[in-house]
Amino acid sequence: ERCVVAVDGPSGSGKSTVSRRLATAIDGVYLDTGAMYRAITWAVLQAGADLQDADAIVKIAQETTLSIGTDPLAPRFRVNGTDVDAAIRGPEVTGAVSAVAAVPAVRAMLVRLQREIISAAPRIVVEGRDIATVVAPDAELKVYLTASAAARAQRRSAEDATDVAATEADLNRRDQLDSSRAADPLRQADDAVTVDTTGMGIDEVVAHLLSMLNS
Ligand code: CDP
Repeated sequence: ERCVVAVDGPSGSGKSTVSRRLATAIDGVYLDTGAMYRAITWAVLQAGADLQDADAIVKIAQETTLSIGTDPLAPRFRVNGTDVDAAIRGPEVTGAVSAVAAVPAVRAMLVRLQREIISAAPRIVVEGRDIATVVAPDAELKVYLTASAAARAQRRSAEDATDVAATEADLNRRDQLDSSRAADPLRQADDAVTVDTTGMGIDEVVAHLLSMLNS
């Protein structure tokens, strides 16, 4: 039977780890929509486009071939045939992704692709910023993961070995940019269940989400 789980929330809230673990637990696939925005951003930077030039960004996005891995154990991405898994997590892409994600035509294009992937996969965990509000409002379970700013910065800097203070400043910068757009993708769905993961372990969060799915 159909099971779509939407996991939204800011960076460092534990979305990726929790979503992948949950997808494995329900024997489903996993879609990282943030990685899709990052992959397009990588193509834009590769082309040397001006980040203020929305038309140029849209043109590059349209000409980009994305290969989107949905295996929760190894969600690999390719852009025009190039393996980009490491590059899309780098500082250049992280610094530019909010600008690219703010272009409405880029969002429309990726949302359409996300819906196609969801329709083709009966059991899927989808993580992002606008999954419950825009991409899959009819999901069986909608979760909004949060954590204190300090906890989010600590997790992220442990992942990529960067300085905690610098990471906290960068997360705040992106949250601000992401939520200051007209159609705010950080807006929470009214019917999403908020889970504050501050001080919670991964196992605990996954078990909590599974219990909600099974009730
Ligand atoms: O690294 P982090 O978990 O913060 O972010 P991500 O999930 O990899 O997403 C990177 C960026 O993509 C976000 O800062 C947003 O600008 C954008 N994004 C979006 O606009 N909509 C989504 N559904 C997912 C990501």
